[in-house]
Amino acid sequence: MKEIEEKIKKLYSLLADNNFVEASKLLQYLQKLLDKKMGIKTLSAADLLPPWIIKTVQMGSSSTETERQRELIRTGNNVFMVRAETIALDLLTDSGTGAQSDIQWGKILGADERYAHSITYEEFLSTAQVVFDTNFILPVHQGRSAENIVFTMLLRNAVAEAAKRGKAVVCTGNSFFDTTLGNCFNNGAQVITADCPESENTGQYFDFKGNADPQKIISIIEKAGPKNIGFILMTVVNNTIGGQPVSMKNLKEIWAIAKRYNILLLLDAARIFENAYFIKQRETGYENKSINKIVREMASLADVVLMSCKKDAIVNMGGLVATRDKRLYELFRTRCILVEGHYSYGGMSGRDLAALEQGLKEGREESHLRQRINQVAEFGNQLKRLGIPIQWPTGSHGVFLDARKFLPHIDKNFFPAQRLCAEIYRRYGIRPVEIGLSMVGRDINGIKIIPATDLVRFTVPRRVYTGEHLRFIAEALADMFEHREKIGGLMYDREGTGNGHFTSTFKMVEPKQIPILRDEVLKDFMTPKTTYKDNYLPPNF
Ligand code: F0G
Repeated sequence: MKEIEEKIKKLYSLLADNNFVEASKLLQYLQKLLDKKMGIKTLSAADLLPPWIIKTVQMGSSSTETERQRELIRTGNNVFMVRAETIALDLLTDSGTGAQSDIQWGKILGADERYAHSITYEEFLSTAQVVFDTNFILPVHQGRSAENIVFTMLLRNAVAEAAKRGKAVVCTGNSFFDTTLGNCFNNGAQVITADCPESENTGQYFDFKGNADPQKIISIIEKAGPKNIGFILMTVVNNTIGGQPVSMKNLKEIWAIAKRYNILLLLDAARIFENAYFIKQRETGYENKSINKIVREMASLADVVLMSCKKDAIVNMGGLVATRDKRLYELFRTRCILVEGHYSYGGMSGRDLAALEQGLKEGREESHLRQRINQVAEFGNQLKRLGIPIQWPTGSHGVFLDARKFLPHIDKNFFPAQRLCAEIYRRYGIRPVEIGLSMVGRDINGIKIIPATDLVRFTVPRRVYTGEHLRFIAEALADMFEHREKIGGLMYDREGTGNGHFTSTFKMVEPKQIPILRDEVLKDFMTPKTTYKDNYLPPNF
């Protein structure tokens, strides 16, 4: 504090002398001191420098507030359903939205489209084998098809066998992504997740908030009985709680638990390269290891790796399954042929595979990861400086705003995060996505799940937006933060089924209506409604 006081005095004297250049320099220095006080690591232009230059651009869209208001009325305030042409900046997802490189587009033109064992497949295979350090790689068209194939083969019989014993199959791990959850439910399994306690306190810094809680995992296993555990699944980075990384230490602990109880460990590797970068930055002993080495070590701590390649491998479409177990590979391969296509293309055209092969190389380049992670961090720093509550520290693929803290006057059952999404879209033409009450849906018994946090995710696509785009969003949020007490909540108009957040419609609720409507809303949440079972499974299952 003393240093800050002295610098401010100095600033006054420089201003008195009309020495504005030195005063500006001092202000920048002061900002760094303040950042330090707030736990912010000030980033320099060198930290943020992209390793690419822009060669082709696509013109953006725009709309008026009136047009967007009309869209919200039409869609029941659900930004998933608004027409993309009305959106100026789309931060719905980082999935399939990255900008492919000229090398990727070049390889797309040169791809081999022959049906089986094409040249492109062989190239993809040898690159993926290097990444995951195994021969057994199955291409699939996206992450959820990997889930479909793997979970069906691992869970279907287990669920039937457990039912004979009068038991349910339980899957556990850190937070599951929504389709991951859905694919477990769809196979008749239950999911009980166990994030580390630090993940729930959004304001408090912790290096690896994505970690699972090993003690909780053990008690879930003991309670269900190890025989009734379908698998443990670790998601890297942990998307749902804020794109937060998992440490190697935690992966090793969970792996040891899985092996002690003879349970399969699955790795949801959608953002494994970004997770590896955090391990390199933050975990002792990994400072000098290459990203590739860290990724291989992570993969070695899993029986099966499922990867939606639409994220870290910077492709518009693609996915894969990797395993070191030949028996498992053959099991998955059989199912792949049935639901995806021949095991040498897995639902992708040759050109998709070609872009993916190159994307697996570019996505784990350290220069790319540095700019990527720092761009998101800088966006988070701007919000933190404004006092806007976000999951801290900033995660890998976006900034996650804590809606319950942003709108403290809105009861958590009135969808504060979903309301903020609608509000940000209407006022500024920016589309984020809700990761909270609407997304989690209902449990296997049809009761509404209330998540630990209600977040608004501003997901940053890779190599698409510049710092100026993100600064515009920070300024918009600052404006909205100033007037937040007038913002209300939402309640279901018509609740969507299955992964209902895509299709649910909502009614606007004024702050003063909330106490009157609360009992009605809670009663609705506690009344069993459509379940995954009703939606996806045949009768008598
Ligand atoms: N696992 C994780 C951790 C994910 O984030 C996603 C998708 C999937 C699996 C499914 O992969 O979309 O290729 O089928 N996440 C996107 C998102 C959609 O916006 O976070 P997919």
